[in-house]
Amino acid sequence: MRLDVITIFPEYLEPLHVSLVGKARARGQLDVRVHDLRSWTHDRHHTVDDTPYGGGPGMVMKPEPWGAALDEVLGSGPGRPVLIVPTPSGRPFTQEQAVALAAEPWLVFAPARYEGIDRRVIEEYGERLDVRELSVGDYVLAGGEAPVLVMVEAIARLLPGVLGNADSHRDDSFAPGAMAELLEGPVYTKPPEWRGRPVPEVLSSGHHGRIARWRRDEALRRTSANRPDLIAGCDPAGFDKHDRATLAELGWAPGPDGRFWRASQAVEE
Ligand SMILES: C[S@@+](CC[C@H](N)C(=O)[O-])C[C@H]1O[C@@H](n2cnc3c(N)ncnc32)[C@H](O)[C@@H]1O
Repeated sequence: MRLDVITIFPEYLEPLHVSLVGKARARGQLDVRVHDLRSWTHDRHHTVDDTPYGGGPGMVMKPEPWGAALDEVLGSGPGRPVLIVPTPSGRPFTQEQAVALAAEPWLVFAPARYEGIDRRVIEEYGERLDVRELSVGDYVLAGGEAPVLVMVEAIARLLPGVLGNADSHRDDSFAPGAMAELLEGPVYTKPPEWRGRPVPEVLSSGHHGRIARWRRDEALRRTSANRPDLIAGCDPAGFDKHDRATLAELGWAPGPDGRFWRASQAVEE
């Protein structure tokens, strides 16, 4: 997979040389190219921003350097990449998005600073590319570079051969399939007892069925405690009779449409 990042802070992307992404690059599984947006400016100060039309505080990134940079980067490879524009006003970046993007051969990231990029850039490239404006959470960061690091790591670990064990993301929180709307439960390693705290007995029972059931119950418990919105949004067809019993213990009951509902939910919401 090829990844291009156009930024005014190329050094911010240095972590892409480290750990899993760094190793994938070294093995040739990922071709990461980081570009300095200012190299497509022509004035002495390498200006990339200007005051906003309509007034107000802050600056807006000028369209000309972005247009020149994107034209050159797009012309440097075969086919058309997906263009990802991080922005708090975008659609949420989810595990489902990460899985879909991991199947693309080429992604170009356009992280902004200031108040964002002149809208006409998004419109212009939206006419010829799949442009996705994505948010990494309901908060505002100073720039899009940290969101790029987040998205690249989430995508890269899904590429075939990048994780040592190909199955290790199958049971992750939000993993497509049985975990799509659930959070993963707690995990343990040796020693069997630490500071008087034993590992749950079932995990050393060697009984695969009981272990799988315990893990599923813990996932339901954790999701119920930390993300009740996910349980409320779950398709009830995905719950078997054991799930339903665990959910009942946690105070959940099927509502008129079959979806699970909890009396305290109304108060929390
Ligand atoms: C200070 S923010 C601009 C926020 C913008 N005024 C707004 O309220 O939507 C500057 C840049 O940081 C990045 N950024 C900030 N928060 C983000 C988030 N939650 N998800 C993705 N990108 C974000 C985007 O690239 C954004 O254009």
